[in-house]
Amino acid sequence: STALRGSFALKARKSNRGSHYGLQLVASYKVAILGAAGGIGQPLALLIKMSPLVSALNLYDIANVKGVAADLSHCNTPSQVLDFTGASELGDCLKDANVVVIPAGVPRKPGMTRDDLFNINANIVMTLVEAVADNCPDAFIHIISNPVNSTVPTAAEVLKQKGVYNPKKLFGVTTLDVVFGVTTLDVVRANTFVAQKKNLKLIDVDVPVIGGHAGITILPLLSKTKPAVSFTDEEVEQLTVRIQNAGTEVVEAKAGAGSATLSMAYAAARFVESSLRALDGDGDVYECSFVQSDLTDLPFFASRIKLGRNGVEALIPSDLIGLSEYEEKAFEALKPELKASIEKGIAFVQKQP
Ligand code: NAI
Repeated sequence: STALRGSFALKARKSNRGSHYGLQLVASYKVAILGAAGGIGQPLALLIKMSPLVSALNLYDIANVKGVAADLSHCNTPSQVLDFTGASELGDCLKDANVVVIPAGVPRKPGMTRDDLFNINANIVMTLVEAVADNCPDAFIHIISNPVNSTVPTAAEVLKQKGVYNPKKLFGVTTLDVVFGVTTLDVVRANTFVAQKKNLKLIDVDVPVIGGHAGITILPLLSKTKPAVSFTDEEVEQLTVRIQNAGTEVVEAKAGAGSATLSMAYAAARFVESSLRALDGDGDVYECSFVQSDLTDLPFFASRIKLGRNGVEALIPSDLIGLSEYEEKAFEALKPELKASIEKGIAFVQKQP
């Protein structure tokens, strides 16, 4: 069955990647999901199970993960799925992981802001990232748990205290809320809304999103939409606000039954696949992420990034040049809120006894 899995992997990767990559292609990466039994974790695990680049998929949660792993393991794709439950098994889950994705934590209910989740989720992220530092300090770490504008700085501070912080390998991955920085989900959403409004083919549309991942910190740069589209001032205002509130739209539609899980899982799976392609040597991988950044005077900021074997290879500054007047104003307006969220995330770790 190993041979069978190997040949499946080879076929899948050849068809995905083109033949010039030659014959050495066998799925070989280990991905761990922490919070794998949740609303995001389950569909995310399924999407990652489909990746021809993954050989091991380790699922961790504090409950209910055994069944998820048993179910997924019946899908005949290359990766082997293992389940881990509770703190005593966390270290084994993380050993030698190349990419760790963290969607663990409580989601919003109608009427809540992302910041309302801060205390519970910062605590969860802190504990999980400590284990990452101890067991796979070299892994790419993808933080989904909200508020991302604070939990990414929290994770950075934990890694610093452990002496293993590599700013090129810590990423905030999001849908579309109000943080300072742009996240992948935000981008997926921005692209969908713009295509609907202007009758463009979705596949053609690209809208950079910068800032963070909560309310006004999410700033879609509609003036930089590709292909070039012109919007009235009214359309810009409408689309921007819609994109900023997209996450809240889902929370309200679900009416207490959760927040954006399927779109988030999709955005996160894409980010994992991009990370694995970068690790595998693909030199043409770009994503949007909330990362440590020197593009602005804020220590963390969401922008387009180029990914390579060692993580962030470059931040793409060009999106920040030549903003429209509307964008320039929104950019200045988001800074104080994003700054406060970042500081809150860092202080949470520093004030631990
Ligand atoms: P959920 O409640 O369905 O799942 C969370 C999972 O985390 C549960 O299975 C739970 O058992 C697990 N968990 C809790 N504490 C844990 C711990 N200490 N260790 C390991 N696992 C733990 O929530 P859902 O909808 O999957 O959302 C998860 C997180 O993602 C929330 O914080 C939510 O706010 C955030 N989110 C982020 C988005 C983004 O754009 N970055 C978009 C949507 C949600």
